[in-house]
Amino acid sequence: MLRSSCLLVSCIILLVWTLPASSQQQLSDSEIEQRVNALLQQMTLEEKAGQLNQMPDKNAKTMEMIKQGKVGSLLGVLGVKEVNEAQHAAVDGSRLKIPLIFGYDVIHGYRTIFPAPLASAGSFDPQLIEQSERVAAKEATASGVKWTFAPMVDIARDPRWGRIVEGAGEDPYLGSVVAMARVRGFQGSNMADPQSVVASAKHFVGYGAVEGGRDYNTAEMSEQLLREVYLPPFRAAVDAGVGTLMSAFNDLNGIPASANHHTLTDILHGEWKFNGFVVSDYDSVHELIPHGTAADDSQASLEALTAGVDMDMADSDYVRYVPELVKSGKLPESVVDEAVRRVLRVKFKAGLFEHPYADPNREKTDILTPESLQTERKMAQESMVLLQNNHDLLPLKKDQTIAVIGPLADDKASQLGAWAGNGQAKDAVTPLEGIAAKLGKGHVLYAKGVDIQPFERGLAAGVAAPAPPSATGVAGVEASNKPASIEDAVSAAKKADTVILFVGELAGMTGEASSRASLDLPGDQMKLIQAVLATKKPTVLVLESGRPQNISWAPEHIPAIIQAWYLGVQSGNAIADVLFGDASPSGRLPLSWPRAVGQIPVYYNHKATGRPSAPDRWHTGYLDLSSEPLYPFGYGLTYTKFKYGSLKANSTISKDGTVHVSAEIENTGKREGTEVVQLYVHDRVAPTSRPVRELKGFERITLAPGEHKTVNFTVRANDLGSYDPEMHWIVPLGTYDVWVAPDSASGVAGTFEVQ
Ligand code: NOJ
Repeated sequence: MLRSSCLLVSCIILLVWTLPASSQQQLSDSEIEQRVNALLQQMTLEEKAGQLNQMPDKNAKTMEMIKQGKVGSLLGVLGVKEVNEAQHAAVDGSRLKIPLIFGYDVIHGYRTIFPAPLASAGSFDPQLIEQSERVAAKEATASGVKWTFAPMVDIARDPRWGRIVEGAGEDPYLGSVVAMARVRGFQGSNMADPQSVVASAKHFVGYGAVEGGRDYNTAEMSEQLLREVYLPPFRAAVDAGVGTLMSAFNDLNGIPASANHHTLTDILHGEWKFNGFVVSDYDSVHELIPHGTAADDSQASLEALTAGVDMDMADSDYVRYVPELVKSGKLPESVVDEAVRRVLRVKFKAGLFEHPYADPNREKTDILTPESLQTERKMAQESMVLLQNNHDLLPLKKDQTIAVIGPLADDKASQLGAWAGNGQAKDAVTPLEGIAAKLGKGHVLYAKGVDIQPFERGLAAGVAAPAPPSATGVAGVEASNKPASIEDAVSAAKKADTVILFVGELAGMTGEASSRASLDLPGDQMKLIQAVLATKKPTVLVLESGRPQNISWAPEHIPAIIQAWYLGVQSGNAIADVLFGDASPSGRLPLSWPRAVGQIPVYYNHKATGRPSAPDRWHTGYLDLSSEPLYPFGYGLTYTKFKYGSLKANSTISKDGTVHVSAEIENTGKREGTEVVQLYVHDRVAPTSRPVRELKGFERITLAPGEHKTVNFTVRANDLGSYDPEMHWIVPLGTYDVWVAPDSASGVAGTFEVQ
């Protein structure tokens, strides 16, 4: 009996995935609305609450609940077998046969892990970002995942916040372009495509502004800041057709984000006409109790659902309390119906009613393909930021002896970064492996130097831990089984022509619940750096981290510095490509790099103040430190030099018009290079004070030595506007400054008028 029912399931699965491509096309909007309403009419209150319930695992109890129609989605269930078993319980075992949607955190790749989102945002290459997310979607769906909790589009101005690594940095324009690219990549042109996943823009909203950079903390901001800085990437995701949003953990201006009617309903549905659904963050409905706005889980459910959180992740509050809230008259059934409509609409759009099952054949063939690895290697090359390159130390010659030193040089897990999907450390190529592969093992010496101990919550960085053996996995590379020691590192450096130091943070020191109060390199890494520098060997510093580290001392002491973030499975190969000139660095900083923690928040699009920054004491700034960042937003060097000139802009445009800005960019160096040309604007006089600069466009251009190009930007006057004090969008008349620039602190300047 068991055998024949298993056979039947296999037949159904086989039949479903062999259906012709045409049947995978999306239903029309009106067809979807009809089918949603027809289904809704047949549903009991309990079944409606079930559709709003996401369970965090698959076990005997949840399987039973699925059959009773009490589960709408599962979180973190991976693999075709597991997914199809649970789906079978829903589609064949429940009264209304409504399929489940399987969600998972595919943040920067599923198995082919790509650079951390902050890193890839710095490529300023939306096409390649989109392509990377297509790979992620293909791999995730091959494993039965149909919904990713990404992209994280939270703007962040505080690198103490560990989750800064998951977003696109500090700028709303770059954040919006990247958000759209990721949504397009995940969802493709059709969410019903078997290789597309439904995306979820998160965390709505204000999560990146948590006070003190402490995760889960409170966020307070003006409505203007919310609308001009924190909301735009969400709006961009909605405009790109994102299927879902996730509500945030934080309190926003006194109302928890997961119970915030103003943002979840008035803005999201009222102003933006979003018709997908909102899922809570993990337990964030229940957490309304510790927030102090709900006395119990029943009240928490009432608050969250009424505010606009449609699906409840993990805490089972809705499934337990929604039916009785309706029966007692506290919750109108129409509110429940609307939430269910939104969930069903996305399930129809995602093609789940037509294709509920995962294809059993793709799980092996679609993972870690050569094409995916190639896309990842390119994305990794483009994500690195060259911060300094005195006397053109880089690129390095290949015919020399290199000492590869540092605790991250051969750490596989840290190449992947935090939230690495279903990634496996064994898939990662470390820098040591990448360099050894490029130069031949005989040219490479290796010493770990020091160990980095993970932080223990609330304690300072572990120092001088009992060190495990530091043997390398690269056969033939000189290594020892002794504990990591600075002496070994110094001795390797002495034997080498050039030293490459790999220091930074362990991946686990970044991401969720990984806020830091200090940006200093953890553990004894500074001691290691100083000891190696004392050998006077030419040294390249490669930082692997999820946030800027405190390196204010470095530019004076180290000739070449690269910020490599976490680059994914091809990390070591991509790093070797850039270090030895087989690829050129072209990444830019998606955030301002602080000189010290005391400067935070430091961001380029700040206001001028009534006493703009100046050396004179009675102007904004510090007595003991510059208020400029160490490196500005948008900054990054190449292996060549670019000259900016001949800025042209129309002298006058109307409020409904378009401004055309152009500049001449010339490669004046000796190598081909890719430049990220950036357009910034400043509105001189408006009803509210305006940022000193705002990014409004960018373009990547590749020029041969001596080649020049006119780069043209076109911006609608409407996109130069701002909110007035009553929160109406206006385009102020008057003079605007404009820059075409290599970063947010330089460039060629001009003006134009809006009349
Ligand atoms: C909590 C995190 O805040 C969120 O980003 C993630 O998607 C969920 N957990 C599910 O894993």
